[in-house]
Amino acid sequence: MQPANSVTANPHPPPSRRDFLQWLAASPLVGALSGCLPPGAAVAPSAPPSGPSATTGNPSRSVLHAPVASAADALDVFDLERVAEIAMPPAHFGYIQTGVDGEETQRNNRTALERLHIRARRLVDVSRLDTRVTLFGREWPTPIVIAPCGSQRGFHPEGEIATARAAQAAGHLQVLSTVSSTGVEEVNEARGEPVWYQLYATSNREVTRAVVDRVRAAGCPVIVLTVDLPAGGNRLTLARWSRIDERSCTSCHRPGGRAPTVKPMFQGTGYRPADFRTPAMTWDFIGELRAMTDQRLVVKGLVTREDAELALEHGVDGIWVSNHGGRAEGSGRATIEALPEIAAAVGGRVPLIVDGGFRRGTDIFKAIARGADAVAVGRPYLWGLGAFGQAGVERALEILRDELAMTMRLAGTPSLSAIGPAAVGVN
Ligand code: FNR
Ligand code: LAC
Repeated sequence: MQPANSVTANPHPPPSRRDFLQWLAASPLVGALSGCLPPGAAVAPSAPPSGPSATTGNPSRSVLHAPVASAADALDVFDLERVAEIAMPPAHFGYIQTGVDGEETQRNNRTALERLHIRARRLVDVSRLDTRVTLFGREWPTPIVIAPCGSQRGFHPEGEIATARAAQAAGHLQVLSTVSSTGVEEVNEARGEPVWYQLYATSNREVTRAVVDRVRAAGCPVIVLTVDLPAGGNRLTLARWSRIDERSCTSCHRPGGRAPTVKPMFQGTGYRPADFRTPAMTWDFIGELRAMTDQRLVVKGLVTREDAELALEHGVDGIWVSNHGGRAEGSGRATIEALPEIAAAVGGRVPLIVDGGFRRGTDIFKAIARGADAVAVGRPYLWGLGAFGQAGVERALEILRDELAMTMRLAGTPSLSAIGPAAVGVN
């Protein structure tokens, strides 16, 4: 089963796990990744599948399909995905890759982006580019945002700390998940300033209040309330990858089950696993949250104009268009398709962020053309993290920044504000 490649339209053929492990044993990566290898993965060293060919004097063509040996060698984010796929424990890689059902929604995030084209303009001075964006009075050098993704120490031992250091290195806005594997205070320290905080409200108000009080005390200026996952999702890809993972998981998971132990942000709050589901939550909760804190409030997970209008009526400070990377409902609705009607409803009154399937600079450009102020990514930086730790996260972000800059130059749009609706068309 190779759901990873089928759902993300990876242009590369999947490498063989055994071939890669043999190559890995001979590579400097082995030290960095050995803690991530499943039991029984130790293999005899052998030559990497590259090197000059005896007959032609040219590098063997097999190198074209070999996983990259270092973060710096990755040419696009899919190169990092290929390494993560083989270096990470299967269940944890499956957790990153999973969407729901047959992955229709996750796939549509990509195919809808591919259906759009860029209408490049010529003879514009693009010798200087401006990719700055201002959100709530704070200027960021890039519109590329690190989406909140939980459990990052399951992907690399340094987890959210590696991500925070990578975010700091290039000035990216980082949003920390409620179900992070590191507490907010430590992450803020590694980031060098307070991150934005993604909130899972829980159905226990006292637990919610304790979490909100803690992140407010930690100085986080913005709460991002995720509203698209009230009661789980049909994550078949995760179930399939978990079946081939033979490790003992009790050091991090509750015995006998896949559910994790209590996460750092819930510790000491009285949280019980059943609290995680919030099937009874309605728009009234926005008012309750307002009464709990004076932080800015962004609502994450909207995909319709109707809900954007309701969000504005309830006084939110920002809107985040998202289908949770295709991990929530199996609606098939791509976020790039939802974006224009939401941008029209918002009319520039509050900042608009979008995520879901953004893998190249051209994708990010298209979102900005369709009205987003900023574009968040999830899996691309998680692949970098799983493959190479902090260096991998930095490389994933660098690739996306460089590709966006190149796209802006080639499209004749020297600033984000120059990327208007006429910059894209539908195939
Ligand atoms: C997520 N996402 C997510 N969202 C959220 O609000 N809180 C969370 O804890 C998580 N956790 C999480 C874990 C993993 C492994 C993934 C892949 C995603 C969703 C995330 O914030 C974002 O919406 C999507 O990842 C964006 O889609 P792409 O870029 O992954 O396609
Ligand atoms: C997920 C949750 C944690 O997508 O948001 O796995």
